[in-house]
Amino acid sequence: MRTSLSYRLIKPELLDTMAVSDPRAMASRRDLVRVNAVMFQSVIMARLLRANLERKPLRLLEIGAGDGRFMLSVARRLAPQWPDVELIMLDQADLLTPKVRAAFAALGWRVQSVVADVFDWIDRPEIEVFDAVSANLFLHHFEDLELEKLLSVMPRLTSCFLATEPRRSGLALWCTGWLRAIGANAVTLHDAAASVRAGFASDELSRLWPGGAATTFQECRVGPFTHAFVARGTG
Ligand SMILES: C[S@@+](CC[C@H](N)C(=O)[O-])C[C@H]1O[C@@H](n2cnc3c(N)ncnc32)[C@H](O)[C@@H]1O
Repeated sequence: MRTSLSYRLIKPELLDTMAVSDPRAMASRRDLVRVNAVMFQSVIMARLLRANLERKPLRLLEIGAGDGRFMLSVARRLAPQWPDVELIMLDQADLLTPKVRAAFAALGWRVQSVVADVFDWIDRPEIEVFDAVSANLFLHHFEDLELEKLLSVMPRLTSCFLATEPRRSGLALWCTGWLRAIGANAVTLHDAAASVRAGFASDELSRLWPGGAATTFQECRVGPFTHAFVARGTG
């Protein structure tokens, strides 16, 4: 059945329901590295971080960080200018391998992984502060009400929140079929299409940001497949 792309449709993604060590899940996580590359996600995120942070960051948080290979690709672009960063990577699954940790260490980035559901984590009483909080291919997992809850705490954690998410468009949806050409498996093909349908357009994320004072928003399409969102200032 064809459904409209005029609204977000959130359906469970297969990868999130599979055991971490399931060979199809492992293959799909490898596909994700190529999907991020095809979408230029790390180029876009590195550019947004550089453009929106006024000074070298000391502490970054990534939510929904996965196996860390996306952020490693971002770090490789930024490390020449930002050699000494503490990076906290939060995900519900424990996916960071010693090899990825070593690659961050070689860049001078100190990585700490937090294995937690993001909604449990934001409910903790302790407040930590970060120079930036980022998310890549993560926010689209959630319904608007959940996103509103997640975004409502961000102004307390950071003055710079950035997200690079799937763009909800006919072109992006059509192109997910072509992921077969890069050898993507059935899990990836399913999840890519589901991600586009759950993705964002227009100013949908800005509208979910907590109301109030001095926040500057940047929300737009970048390239054919990416929906970028930046909120700077206090909520
Ligand atoms: C599509 S993957 C993206 C991973 C990474 N950002 C990347 O680009 O490679 C989404 C990630 O979100 C994580 N995730 C989904 N729901 C979550 C939740 N409620 N709390 C924490 N992590 C979650 C999944 O475990 C998965 O690693």
